[in-house]
Amino acid sequence: NQLGDDHVPIGELLASPLHLTAASPLPAPEWLYGPAPARRNSTGLDLAVESMRAPLLAAGAATVVPAVPEATAASAASAVQASAASYRQWHKTPVGTRAAMLRQAADALQADLPRFCALLVKEAFKTWGDAIAEVREAVDFLRYYADEAERIMRPVALPGPTGESNELRLTARGPWVCISPWNFPLAIFMGQVAAALATGNTVLAKPAEQTPAVALEAVRLLHAAGVPADALQLLHGPGETVGAALVAASGVAGVVFTGSTQVAKIIHRALAAKDGAIVPLIAETGGINAMLVDSSALPEQVVDAVVQSAFRSAGQRCSALRLLCVHEGIADHVIEMIRGAAAELAGGDPALLATDVGPVIDTEAFDNITRATQRLGAEQKVLLVPAAPTREAANFIAPAAYEVDSIDSVKAEIFGPVLQIVRWSGEPSAVIERINTLGYGLTLGIQTRIDSRAAALAAQAHVGNIYVNRNIIGAVVGVQPFGGEGLSGTGPKAGGPHYLYRFCAEQTVTINT
Ligand code: SER
Repeated sequence: NQLGDDHVPIGELLASPLHLTAASPLPAPEWLYGPAPARRNSTGLDLAVESMRAPLLAAGAATVVPAVPEATAASAASAVQASAASYRQWHKTPVGTRAAMLRQAADALQADLPRFCALLVKEAFKTWGDAIAEVREAVDFLRYYADEAERIMRPVALPGPTGESNELRLTARGPWVCISPWNFPLAIFMGQVAAALATGNTVLAKPAEQTPAVALEAVRLLHAAGVPADALQLLHGPGETVGAALVAASGVAGVVFTGSTQVAKIIHRALAAKDGAIVPLIAETGGINAMLVDSSALPEQVVDAVVQSAFRSAGQRCSALRLLCVHEGIADHVIEMIRGAAAELAGGDPALLATDVGPVIDTEAFDNITRATQRLGAEQKVLLVPAAPTREAANFIAPAAYEVDSIDSVKAEIFGPVLQIVRWSGEPSAVIERINTLGYGLTLGIQTRIDSRAAALAAQAHVGNIYVNRNIIGAVVGVQPFGGEGLSGTGPKAGGPHYLYRFCAEQTVTINT
């Protein structure tokens, strides 16, 4: 899990002006990925990826583009007013027209996949595999919510007495504030924005401070597809000032937020304290996600699922595995295999195709994770050491694992490649009971070859997404609707058939004929 000989030192790459920040230039498309590949190999991947990657590595310091300006509290308030004015037209735009714009943006994004991948690698330190998956997920969100809006926004005639017609219809609510995280700066950003726009709402998008350029490019794409500038406004800046001003502004009809539980509660309180209408909040937060492994489980399958779920994406997914609960009968064997498999992961420079685990997002994340691993290292049995983490390695933290005594000792989500492992014996339902009492409820893995047990444990768990005999990450839009309960969020599930309803008001119209 150390940088191999074939790796460009990550410090060298990231200390160069290649890293975009809010004040950095936004590169032209050719600068990022160069001309389209002339041909592809049988998988269609390697050559295409190489064509994106090489110019990225070769790019020099001379790139100069305008800085992305930050919003202020005052400009946030006037943006909400402009959004409310734009709403008066936008919500009357037929749903088919809005859906067509989203589909056009989806086509454009798909065609522009290499450039967006390069931007994700560069700004968010995504590995190439994660970047490609993220662009595809964003395309899926655009198409799925376009289809869903057309499906659910058709008025429904209801049966009633003779001489009366009754109709139920969904309507837009008004300006929505969309606050999105850095860990999926394109997919979650696009999902929130597409859901609000498809249903006829206008949008004030506040992306994470760490990833402004990806958001800017996404907004450009939607504007080019016909979404009016005031119907979709982008406001960069810190959550504490710009995000807070947006949430507090008068005229906001809804807030959708993905991030920490703590910030979700701050937003919830701020909305409750406002004068005027009751403003709905959709929050998707984190989790202490567990995987229960019984003694019938297939060790090879378990280890693959654990390594994918805990360490890929540097553990920076809200769905990532934090707590492995493994039956004592197979614990030694499974732990040994995890150690071996984790040691095979290539860590470091995300711009290299071979890299499995890139750096964490920034110094603050690095420091938080390092503090947590130091505490675990002092208090618990160390299984995998996060070898000599240093900031000189551009915030890279190697996968780490610790054996803990009890589920109850796991108090907080560590948002990085850090796994805690606990052995259990007795009834698996008692393990699920302990997991439920942690209060989170996002993802859960169950590894067993006893089908009836999997079904019973799934029914017992207070968790939004349950994965049996596989990894617990990478929910697919329209296939695995994603979102949790309890401390993990309010629902509804992103990429699911009920998501758009929350962006709408309902109207029943009764006519005496
Ligand atoms: N939707 C992502 C996943 O399933 C997490 O945000 O991994």
